[in-house]
Amino acid sequence: MATGSRRQPLPLLLLPLILLAGRGEAGAARPSPIKNVVVLALENRSFDHILGWTRRLLGLPVDGLTGAECNPNSSPNSSAICVSADADLVVPDDPGHSFEDVLEQVFGNVSAAAAQPSMSGFVRSALSVNALLSSAVMRAFRPALLPAFSALAPAFAVFDRWFSSIPGPTQPNRLFLYSATSRGAVAHNKLDLLLGYPQRTIFDSLAADGRGFAVYFKTIPTVLFYRRLRALRHAARSFHRYDAAFKDHARRGVLPALSVIEPRYFDLTGTPADDDHPAHDVANGQRLVKDVYEALRAGPQWNQTLLVVTYDEHGGFYDHVATPTAGVPSPDGIRGPPPFFFKFDRLGVRVPTIMVSPWIKKGTVVGRPAGPTDTSEFEHSSIPATLKKIFDLSSDFLTKRDAWAGTFEHIFTELDEPRTDCPETLPEVPFERPTPPNEHGWLSDFQRELVELASFLNGDYMLTSLAQEARTKKMTVKQADAYVRRAITGFLRASKQALRLGANESAIVTMRSSLTIFGCRYTGVECRRRAVVEVLWPMDRAVNGGEGQPGPELGPGGSCDVHSWIEGASTSGWRVSWFAPQNQVGGRRLKTSSRGGTGVGLGTGGGTGVDGV
Ligand SMILES: *[C@@H]1O[C@H](CO)[C@@H](O)[C@H](O)[C@H]1NC(C)=O
Ligand SMILES: *[C@@H]1O[C@H](CO)[C@@H](O)[C@H](O)[C@H]1NC(C)=O
Ligand SMILES: *[C@@H]1O[C@H](CO)[C@@H](O)[C@H](O)[C@H]1NC(C)=O
Ligand SMILES: *[C@@H]1O[C@H](CO)[C@@H](O)[C@H](O)[C@H]1NC(C)=O
Ligand SMILES: *[C@@H]1O[C@H](CO)[C@@H](O)[C@H](O)[C@H]1NC(C)=O
Repeated sequence: MATGSRRQPLPLLLLPLILLAGRGEAGAARPSPIKNVVVLALENRSFDHILGWTRRLLGLPVDGLTGAECNPNSSPNSSAICVSADADLVVPDDPGHSFEDVLEQVFGNVSAAAAQPSMSGFVRSALSVNALLSSAVMRAFRPALLPAFSALAPAFAVFDRWFSSIPGPTQPNRLFLYSATSRGAVAHNKLDLLLGYPQRTIFDSLAADGRGFAVYFKTIPTVLFYRRLRALRHAARSFHRYDAAFKDHARRGVLPALSVIEPRYFDLTGTPADDDHPAHDVANGQRLVKDVYEALRAGPQWNQTLLVVTYDEHGGFYDHVATPTAGVPSPDGIRGPPPFFFKFDRLGVRVPTIMVSPWIKKGTVVGRPAGPTDTSEFEHSSIPATLKKIFDLSSDFLTKRDAWAGTFEHIFTELDEPRTDCPETLPEVPFERPTPPNEHGWLSDFQRELVELASFLNGDYMLTSLAQEARTKKMTVKQADAYVRRAITGFLRASKQALRLGANESAIVTMRSSLTIFGCRYTGVECRRRAVVEVLWPMDRAVNGGEGQPGPELGPGGSCDVHSWIEGASTSGWRVSWFAPQNQVGGRRLKTSSRGGTGVGLGTGGGTGVDGV
């Protein structure tokens, strides 16, 4: 291109200066060496709890513990409880981390949200849950108990000022990770979670520029709490079982721009939970980190990979760094519910964040970000904000929060080429916990939400929410795990089928099931013969015939083996078939009906479930 005859030739002397300035600019605009980002968000641990002692015991220059940090006990007369270096791999209970709990932990007092967080209410808050917890929340890990982190932290980067996005529980914080807002949620709002949060996500921004993403999950992908991820275009393509796919994709070098790893949330013998959520064994979280790192390290994409390991929130564990309260923008102006009407104007408690890439200098410690504003901090929205930068995404920021959050693309620009001294393996994690998983125990609140998500996606939830509630309370961890796996398999499979049959990519599969199934599963009685599953979904064009596939097995023990069936649909209508369980009456079709549309030869009776239609 002509540089333009209107431009005056520059005086020769200015040239070097301009070139220099130009290089600085280009440094920022230079394509990032990072082409694959892998995010692993574990559960419910604070920075000090996990990495607080790495300063004293590993010599890492992080803002960690000195040993002098204490919290007052409940009664003014009993002595304060101070931090110690003897955290157990398994803690006795789950410290509180609801919005109210965190209010007390951070300000020392629920009744008065003081101007300045004193980080003095952790012990009192824990006492209200379980007396044994009051000292557990002040205990932090000796680095030796966390061999994966103790190897990665000094070898790569630790962020020692990374906060959870809101001073509250898991799901709102997880929502911030990929959408920079929880749309007003400060708690787990069941209905919103089930229907799915409607906001735009970083997955949409990536897709808009033709960049792929994948979710590798072990139990159930919590990103399905975003409604948009349930659409066929994503549900049919982007979800993979971690065990079947992650290492294979890493080995073949086909990891997409963004990979999300979702740990196992149910604790079973043989397949223990590895989400680090209390009271799950943290050693298994370390094994997962090791597994992920080694797969990436050995793969052909290593030289362009970034692994981010963070925690959704602090889980009620003590941290000494005051939570930021100044200049934090509300993402979207939506306020929280009564009684607090939270304005989303302060961040949650500091959490550990470790970043791993051959482009990161050994021993990097990242503190406060340099911008984009004076008050910017690192928090979960920093992930979408930085993805936008390193992939030069054309979509706008998701909310005001990711526009404000610090970004970390600069930590990859300090080296001229990728390091070759990164460890190929991480140390073994030798610890065995003294007691086996309590797989016959009842569910935690979080696990109950996962069961509810699964039952919503697979249609059982439509029955009656009351009975649903009763059921999830009665399920053991082991039953819930089996149920959730089947439900998710059914939903993802139905999504694939619907897409193959030509359904609109933005449609979401809706599955429904019958009271008969309900009865058999809830009460454990022998399945009745007329088990029913309907699968329906909006279609944008007529599809004839269709293919059936066995749906999820629905009952514990397999006695309630019901088949879902996608059969076909018509313009703006749907068609549903009822089938008997194959193992009882040969999968005979009992009835077919439809609503709306142009109709595609509907009728009743006949056919068998497997060959049918
Ligand atoms: C605390 O100690 C003071 C003085 O020994 C005593 O008067 C008071 O009753 C004690 N309070 C409690 C809650 O034990
Ligand atoms: C809580 O705050 C109120 C009001 O500021 C104050 O009077 C009270 O002493 C505080 N309680 C504790 C335990 O700090
Ligand atoms: C972490 O916190 C959430 C919200 O407080 C809680 O429901 C849950 O028990 C914890 N997370 C998990 C994975 O259980
Ligand atoms: C990564 O880059 C280093 C340095 O250029 C090179 O030695 C190594 O072979 C590369 N590894 C892969 C997997 O491409
Ligand atoms: C799919 O549905 C969306 C929303 O209803 C619509 O805008 C779009 O045009 C449809 N796509 C096709 C290929 O029909």
